[in-house]
Parts: sequence; structure tokens; C-alpha cells
Amino acid sequence: MQTDSQTHMPDDISLSVRHLIKNFTVGGRWYSNKNEQIVSAVADISFDIRRGTTMGLVGESGCGKSTTARCILRLIDPTSGSVLFRANGNSEKIIDVMAESPEELRQLRQNMQIVFQDPFASLNPRMTVGTTIEELLIVNTNMDRANRANRVLELLDLVGLESIHAKRFPHEFSGGQRQRIGVARALALNPSFVVCDEPVSALDVSIQAQVLNLLSDLQENFGLTYLFITHDLAVVRQICDDVAVMYLGKIVERSPVEKLFAEPMHPYTQALVSAAPIPNPSRQRDRTRILLEGDVPSPINPPSGCRFQSRCSIGRTEQKCLEIEPPLTDVDGTHCVACHFPAVRSVI
Ligand SMILES: Nc1ncnc2c1ncn2[C@@H]1O[C@H](COP(=O)(O)OP(=O)(O)OP(=O)(O)O)[C@@H](O)[C@H]1O
Ligand code: SF4
Ligand SMILES: [Mg+2]
Repeated sequence: MQTDSQTHMPDDISLSVRHLIKNFTVGGRWYSNKNEQIVSAVADISFDIRRGTTMGLVGESGCGKSTTARCILRLIDPTSGSVLFRANGNSEKIIDVMAESPEELRQLRQNMQIVFQDPFASLNPRMTVGTTIEELLIVNTNMDRANRANRVLELLDLVGLESIHAKRFPHEFSGGQRQRIGVARALALNPSFVVCDEPVSALDVSIQAQVLNLLSDLQENFGLTYLFITHDLAVVRQICDDVAVMYLGKIVERSPVEKLFAEPMHPYTQALVSAAPIPNPSRQRDRTRILLEGDVPSPINPPSGCRFQSRCSIGRTEQKCLEIEPPLTDVDGTHCVACHFPAVRSVI
């Protein structure tokens, strides 16, 4: 694996991703590489997440959000790129995640955790919730039994569950409660960075709000930094400070969240924002929805030039868009856009 030569990061940054690329090889046979194809799942993306803040990663299904997260946590190895991480929120200790040995990675994972969309799938159905959380403490800490028991109860309390819940099995919980267990488990080893991969997508809207509030409270209390993955812009608006919009493996726009909604500059972001509901019913009625034509192209042989070109009403026939990939360019110090013809087109 190739890593970048980035060696430092500013004090206010918790995680710094540079030129991250992940290609999967599909097809072919065990005896031959013939018919093999390359899936360009993450295609050279870079971003920073500020300490104690939430960065949203949004985009349609298959655009590379989970692959990005899995590379950052080294659950899979990226093809190339670098990830620097400030361990324990400690300004002295910056870790080059890609250079970590398996043993170092095991320790690092105490500091970098993930909450999945479907916590049920990752909970052992035959273990009580108390035992599931205690297992983590047994494997990763030197706590004695009494301290582990106290810590389990403390974690359940932190996520709004009761001590009685420690004795119950996963199937005895509702969807929202299971997600609370997922959060308790993620927090068990005191991480400073948590990836939330669609943590509320499977929940009813009212339960979504409760889990989002819980995540916000925990962030405030423990200074957590979140990478929050979702396809739902309403959720982004509720919980994120900054947001990066992904399309077919690329970040096409990145900015503070309010700016992205007020002044979207990329035609793809404009379409997404125009389709997201807003709280004001009369303004909602007056809005024009920008409809995206066609489907997302395959990440096997993605379009040349701008990857969005086949669906873009502005650049579809522009030679430049067909031939040259637009770089992600800083327009005002906080707002970056990857488009040859960027323009604020208000959609609210
Ligand atoms: N192990 C794999 N082997 C081959 N292709 C893969 C693999 N994992 C992911 N992909 C492909 O990489 C692309 C990005 O997938 P990814 O799961 O990161 O998307 P996503 O944005 O998280 O989508 P969703 O919103 O549906 O979760 C998709 O085209 C997917 O099919
Ligand atoms: S670069 Fe061209 S095709 Fe791509 S989003 Fe901008 S205008 Fe559309
Ligand atoms: Mg995903």
C-alpha cells in the first residue's frame, strides 16, 4: 500500500484524509485474471474533520461512503492515500493510520469506533447486552469484574437504558433501543472519534430524533468527533457542522452545513438540496425540485472528465466537462466545489 508523505496537521483537526483511493477487483476466476474489472469505489478524496465536530458524508447509495469509512478505520486497506488521526484528542500524538501494525491497529480501534445502521446484525443473539459490552472490556482492558460491571451499568445509563437491560437479549429490544446499545458499545473504550454509518436510517422519524439527540449530547459531554454517514439531508442539517457530498467515489462539494443549504454550488448538490424537505410548508410548496435524470453510472469504467456529466443539465454537452475532471477547488476558504461551471443557484 502506498501512503502519502503528510506528516503533521493543525491543532484543531482530529482526522485528516488525503488522496484516499480504493479500487476493488471483481470478476475473473481463481486461475485467471481475464475478465477482471476494477470498481473505482473511492477515487482520490481528501478532507479534514475538526476536533469535537461532526462531518457529514452524504450521497446516493453506492457512491462510496461506507468504503471511505472502512478505509479510514482500516477495516479494509485502501489502494493508496493517507489518514492521520489525533489519538485520545491528544495534540502530541498523531497517528499515521496506514502505517500501523496489526497490534497497533487493535489499540487504535479503542480510539476510533463505528456505529452501524443495523446494530442487530452485529450483536450476538445468544449473549445478553451486559455480556456483549463486558466482552469488549475483558479483551481490551485490565478492569476487574466489579469495575467491568460498574462500567457496563454506567454505559447503559449514558445511552438512556436501565440496569435491568443488561440482562436482556438483543431480540428483546426495539430498533431505537438496539441502536442505543450500538452506541454504548462504541463508547465502551472511551474513543475520541466515532464513525456513524447510517445509524438512524432504519428508524422511525421520532426515534431518529431521539438517537440524534443522544449522539449530540454524548459529543458535547465527551468532546467526540464524528464522521456521520447518511443519504438523508434532513439528518445532515440536524446533526452536522460540515458536510461533504459524494458522487461516484468523488467529493463534489464540501462546506459548513448552513452554507451548503443556502448556497449550493455543484449541480448535484443543488438537486439533492432541492429534493430535501424543509420545515416551512409554504416555502416547501413554492420550491422547484431539480429532477436528476438517469441512474448513477457504474463505478466500473466511470465516465471520463466530470463523473457527474451524464446527469448534469448544465455540462452535459460541454466539451470541457466531457474531457477534463474538475478538481475540488476552494472558493472562499471554507467552501470547496468540483465543477467547471460552479454557481450559486438557490434552490430554497
Ligand atoms: N468488497 C467489495 N467488492 C467489490 N465492490 C465493492 C465492495 N464493497 C463495495 N463495493 C462497491 O463499491 C461501491 C461503493 O460502495 P459503498 O458500500 O461504499 O457505498 P455507500 O455509499 O456506502 O452505499 P449505501 O448508501 O448503499 O450504503 C459500490 O459500487 C459497491 O458495489
Ligand atoms: S463540471 Fe460540468 S458536468 Fe460536471 S457538474 Fe460541473 S457543469 Fe456539470
Ligand atoms: Mg454504506
